[in-house]
Amino acid sequence: MTAPSLGKDLLGLEPLTAEQIRLILDTAEPFKEVSERAIKKVPALRGKTIVNLFFEASTRTRISFEFAEKRLSADTVNVAASGSSVQKGENLVDTARNLEAMRIDMVVMRHPSSGAAKFLAERIPSNVINGGDGTHEHPTQALLDMLTVRDRLNRIEGLKVCICGDILHSRVARSNIWGLLKLGAEVSVCGPQSLMPRGIEQLGVTVFRRIEEAIEWADVLNVLRLQLERMQAGYIPSVREYYRVFGVTLERLEKAPRDLLILHPGPMNRGVEIDSRVADGPHSVILHQVTNGVAVRMAVLYLLAGGQPGLAEAAKGSGREADE
Ligand code: CP
Repeated sequence: MTAPSLGKDLLGLEPLTAEQIRLILDTAEPFKEVSERAIKKVPALRGKTIVNLFFEASTRTRISFEFAEKRLSADTVNVAASGSSVQKGENLVDTARNLEAMRIDMVVMRHPSSGAAKFLAERIPSNVINGGDGTHEHPTQALLDMLTVRDRLNRIEGLKVCICGDILHSRVARSNIWGLLKLGAEVSVCGPQSLMPRGIEQLGVTVFRRIEEAIEWADVLNVLRLQLERMQAGYIPSVREYYRVFGVTLERLEKAPRDLLILHPGPMNRGVEIDSRVADGPHSVILHQVTNGVAVRMAVLYLLAGGQPGLAEAAKGSGREADE
């Protein structure tokens, strides 16, 4: 049987099969160790040129991709909307075609418009990786979330995962729903009705209106940021009221029938969707998620560049070559 491949681009988890998602997670495993070395570099993408095109703010995704690229020995360039010719009115495809004229191989893009990554991928021959497009998908975030859950609980199939908070504006929620359902988890969402997309049940998720019910049901909570910058007035009465009704607090978790694993994709609004005592507590894997983000992105870059899944172990070498 031939191993599955990812194809040209990674635009979301909706179009991927369970086998392709497992391929990425399994390929990330051997890459974890590279970041623990004194010299964090392997030659797997030597000679490849990657452009990180970020049209929206990012700390974790942009830096994590840059680390992943550099640790695979790729040459990288970062382009932000501010300071580029986008500010002078250049459109997305012209920007990308000009970058391609300089002979690039891959583009990692974050963009405020849903569908922007697909739009670009259909128009340029370089591999395109979606680093978050509007409210559509953020595939590498969901992959690193799943890798973290699998690390801690040794499986995804059969687990009960609740995604809590601002589901309406969340690309992280959508990618997690697709990925978790494909890998056999039970998925629910919890949040105020005003922040719940209409018809979300049709994706195959259960909807909880009360955070207490979600906590009683779940093995894992993935707590989402309230995306205040995407909201016009009227979604919630106030952030204080939101915390009172939907906040993931220590008092609420202490009433849970089992220990819950707590995830948050970041950036966090402490005291809005999550209590600091929970974010920094023993069941939080929030920083573990960030660590896993580098390995997941190394795996995605490696596979899209044509790397063979079974050879990831060999591709990362022993570390001795880098020391020599
Ligand atoms: N989780 C996430 O996408 O964070 P950034 O916006 O900082 O990249």
